[in-house]
Amino acid sequence: MSSLLIKNGTVVTATDHYQADVYIEGETVSMIGATLDIVAEREIDATGCYLFPGGIDAHTHMELPVMGTQSSDTFETGTLAGLHGGTTTIIDFANQSRGGTLEAAIQEWHRKADGHAVADYAFHCAVTDFNDDSRKEIPRVVHDHGINSFKIFMAYKDTLMIDDAQIYQLMEEVARHGGIVTAHTENGDMIERNIRGHLEAGNTAVKYHALSRPAYCEAEAAGRAIDIAHATGCPFYIVHTTCEETLEMVKVATLRNQKVHVETCIQYLLLDESWYAREGFEGARMVISPPLRKKKDQQALWASMNQNLVHHVATDHCPFCLAQKEAGRDDFTRIPNGAPGVENRFELLYSEGVAKGRIDLNKFVEMSSTGAAKIFGLFPRKGTIAVGSDADIVIFDPDVQHKISAASHHMNVDYNPYEGWQVQGKTRTTILRGTVAIDDGKALVGRGFGRYLKRPPKKGPLAN
Ligand code: URP
Ligand code: ZN
Ligand code: ZN
Repeated sequence: MSSLLIKNGTVVTATDHYQADVYIEGETVSMIGATLDIVAEREIDATGCYLFPGGIDAHTHMELPVMGTQSSDTFETGTLAGLHGGTTTIIDFANQSRGGTLEAAIQEWHRKADGHAVADYAFHCAVTDFNDDSRKEIPRVVHDHGINSFKIFMAYKDTLMIDDAQIYQLMEEVARHGGIVTAHTENGDMIERNIRGHLEAGNTAVKYHALSRPAYCEAEAAGRAIDIAHATGCPFYIVHTTCEETLEMVKVATLRNQKVHVETCIQYLLLDESWYAREGFEGARMVISPPLRKKKDQQALWASMNQNLVHHVATDHCPFCLAQKEAGRDDFTRIPNGAPGVENRFELLYSEGVAKGRIDLNKFVEMSSTGAAKIFGLFPRKGTIAVGSDADIVIFDPDVQHKISAASHHMNVDYNPYEGWQVQGKTRTTILRGTVAIDDGKALVGRGFGRYLKRPPKKGPLAN
């Protein structure tokens, strides 16, 4: 069995940080000690560096079919890019097709990912056509496929959205089988009406994308889904939360002791609606749903991490090249929704969060890794550095500065929303299951190194 000793680093988990040596045998952490006097096949000196649990991005869309095109990262390119930045596990969405089965969606996503992904991966199952047949599939999805999380879209009317009655029944069934429902919360009917109004008035520019999807549309849907989750007793998670109004809904739910798991994404913390006022068509790069919000919403999201109202920072990585975005130059509704981020999330959250004093080191680990591992049933295999856990470790140098650029990133997309941003701290080495995957910017693993992760249903006192 291979062995690797990481000397002199500072181990950081969601609760501790301490100087220690970490000994890895095969794929697993087998010893952690102040000073380990042990001979290993390979030794890495991590003096001056943090040892973080490998990042988990619980919201990505690799090769997602959208509006006649597909997101430009494959499982191979997207997960490799993630590894460069310090993300060792992604959870992608296997989207059911209208008229198709959940089984077919999961098989399709396995075809995309198996033998291709470079980092480890799991799937959420997105239910876009809920009926008696799809309801009957749920136990198999949970127990045979190891998928304990489902996704609903409350927006994208006529393609992905399901209605409240369907949501209610889905939540009842998912709760029965120990799963969790995740939701894209935007009021699809209101948005559709807004869009029609803008198009009829000849308002086709990029900014009307954001104007069609105000924060109250997001918060209304969040409140509704929270109530249905409460009524059904279903564990519930809001994806890509953007605004203060939605956080208010979550706060209200806490008063009746309802736990609502909340994800935000790095772009909502760092970028704002001024993107849509940019010259010409540039704003199309950040046409995402929900759209970027106001600076006051960014402040609320940062604060909510520290108040334990936000539990994970993901990316919603869904990149499209500029030529793909061009499809909507004359009609904002034709711009494929999505933007890149999987490579930059981890380092940006450290740089903008820890280095700028908005969150501490433990909160950084919780947001980038542990929170998602716990919510989605990967913990303690993933999401921490502990004896018996997978040896997914990022050796992170807090003193190195670097600049983000599409010219040097590894994502398969020809722009970067953070172009020119100066980043404090850098992923020096990424270790995935005991193998050095990235070292000083060099990839040492390739296609097919990633492994599919089955996730058990949630039970017992830690389940929520
Ligand atoms: O604009 C976005 N977010 N595209 C990806 C699909 C989704 O809604 O998550
Ligand atoms: Zn979404
Ligand atoms: Zn998404």
